[in-house]
Amino acid sequence: MKEVIVIENLSFTYEGAQQPALQDVTLTVNEGEWIAITGHNGSGKSTLAKLLNGLYIPSSGKVVVDGFLTNEVDNVWEVRQRVGVVFQNPENQFVATTVKDDIAFGLENLGFPPSEMEAIIVESAKRVNVDQLLMKEPHHLSGGQKQRVAIAGILAVKPKVMVFDEATSMLDPIGRKEIITSIQQLHQQEKLTIITITHDLSEAILADRMVVLEEGRIIIQGKPKELFVQQEKLRNVGLELPFLIELQEELIKRGISLSGQSMTEAELVSELWISVQKK
Ligand SMILES: Nc1ncnc2c1ncn2[C@@H]1O[C@H](COP(=O)(O)OP(=O)(O)OP(=O)(O)O)[C@@H](O)[C@H]1O
Ligand SMILES: [Mg+2]
Repeated sequence: MKEVIVIENLSFTYEGAQQPALQDVTLTVNEGEWIAITGHNGSGKSTLAKLLNGLYIPSSGKVVVDGFLTNEVDNVWEVRQRVGVVFQNPENQFVATTVKDDIAFGLENLGFPPSEMEAIIVESAKRVNVDQLLMKEPHHLSGGQKQRVAIAGILAVKPKVMVFDEATSMLDPIGRKEIITSIQQLHQQEKLTIITITHDLSEAILADRMVVLEEGRIIIQGKPKELFVQQEKLRNVGLELPFLIELQEELIKRGISLSGQSMTEAELVSELWISVQKK
């Protein structure tokens, strides 16, 4: 498997802070993988996101993106182009008065010739299903649409890795579902490398691997199926277990034969079906 991000012994302390926001973090992200980074408020998740695309540089240790060391000034554009970050608040991510111009912004910054731009904009918009909105004003869109436009703007510059920092947390359930569906499509159909940052374990559960931060350190990591076996550890760091996991626990307690390891509703339904048929 090819490594796309390599983080080694990374520590980061904000200027004037007593405690480091990240301490001795080592993590490798493989191409095509979906990693969920989770942890309680203030555990260092957003700081890590900003270190991944070179917005911050390590106080010690290193971050290497696709072979480029982020703390070398000459690599800034290489790193930013490779790692796109979608932030929490869709309102803060717009710079233009139409969706189309907004998606064009990143391309203009990279000096793309205008003749090539139109096709790239349309193609990026299609990937997250906003191609019908190109002439609209961004502030007239729903929250989910705004976030998808922000994603399209990043996709246009062809990143290798997309980081979503609590990108669904300000959205209503419909918007949230839209973004999750887009992320799943980018992961499954396009094999893009995805990092979702969330304190919502019902979202983290969808990833290939979960990494749990506490006070700036990685305290547990593994496949969601493996981690939910260690429920106490997750509860101890203040994370709320997903409803789907609690439901399975409750059904097992009531004598229904289940593995307790379904990570999607569809998996649970098929397990329940088998369990019911056996009776
Ligand atoms: N700009 C800053 N200056 C100083 N300290 C900061 C700054 N931003 C974050 N911190 C501190 O660094 C630590 C990690 O913060 P960070 O925002 O990375 O956490 P988080 O896991 O993203 O939290 P949340 O779940 O609230 O988004 C916290 O102690 C926070 O107070
Ligand atoms: Mg944060």
